Amino acid sequence: MQNKREVFLKTLYGEKSKYTPVWFMRQAGRFLKEYRELREKYDFLTMCREPELAARITLLPEKLDVDALILFSDILIPLLSFRAQLNYKDNSQPTVKIELKNLESSPDFSRISFVLEAIKLVKSEDREHALIGFAASPFTLSCYIFGGDGFSNLKAFMKNREKEYFELLENLTDMTIEYLKLKLKAGCDAVQLFDSWAGILSKDDYKKFVLPFVKRIAENVKPSIYFVKNSCHLNEFLEKLDFNCFSVDWRTSLKDIYKKTMKTVQGNMDNTVPLLEKRVIEKETVKILSETENIPHIFNLGHGVLKNTEPDSLKFIVDLVHERTLK
Ligand code: CP3
Repeated sequence: MQNKREVFLKTLYGEKSKYTPVWFMRQAGRFLKEYRELREKYDFLTMCREPELAARITLLPEKLDVDALILFSDILIPLLSFRAQLNYKDNSQPTVKIELKNLESSPDFSRISFVLEAIKLVKSEDREHALIGFAASPFTLSCYIFGGDGFSNLKAFMKNREKEYFELLENLTDMTIEYLKLKLKAGCDAVQLFDSWAGILSKDDYKKFVLPFVKRIAENVKPSIYFVKNSCHLNEFLEKLDFNCFSVDWRTSLKDIYKKTMKTVQGNMDNTVPLLEKRVIEKETVKILSETENIPHIFNLGHGVLKNTEPDSLKFIVDLVHERTLK
């Protein structure tokens, strides 16, 4: 018998498994009633900082019958190790307040030990699911450090102050490698690197300003999944990266990515599909399953669950994927 964790890990390593595993980005969030109830009592950062709360929220999506849990936290949390101030306002981009000179120093991970405690708590309560830890790529993280419309401030810094940009990204890369290794050591079974904004760059800029850092993370941290969106023009670079799995959105074909990388693929349902009628959801799910029939595939959305999604629609997708792919 393979449990959910084994099915997920076998697939991640490109081996044959009993069925296609499923989880959803942002599955531990506002579309769940239990999350919203907790959120009325606590602010977002408190929920991240209290290991008991973070562990409880991480476990909520169990009821969807998913195969993997993703640790409840946020990509900006590791910036607290550089003494950043984070501000999460309702319905807008979070903002970061930090002195750039703080980012030249070494991170003080004792400031975010709550993340590792939450991982240990989840693991002590749950051995059935795979547990995924995560971080942002240094580029995507920098998008939030610099802010601005369309992340224009970072783009300007990158080009006007090339040398300082490279120094900053080297330091963020060191931090990210260390942070992800700590998460794996604390009990995560795999990690996902979110590069949500790399797709805003041209091919040449991605190659010069993002690829070297992501490459170093892939070489140093395993097992790992690389998530990019809006990235059709970047496909040729993915084969240069040694991740175990590539997670793409609905604009990119899973089959094409597999042919290029020969690695497990993850995704890529349009995140508005779960808002549709069951009949249509079924058609769209089956379409993805037929495209990935003979390739190692972890079913997911192409981007996070939208907050007006019915949990029951995600459970419907999970059941369908399990039933249709069971060997
Ligand atoms: O996936 C999960 O369920 C686990 C937890 C998780 C969160 N954020 C919780 C969260 C993960 C993996 C993230 C990653 C994240 N955070 C990314 C990468 C993925 C992506 O969406 O592209 C990014 C870019 C962020 C930054 C961020 N955090 C934004 C833009 C926002 C506000 C907008 C939004 O979508 O809610 C957040 C806040 C945030 N992170 C919430 C949650 C549950 C909502 C906070 C609230 O309750 O008000």
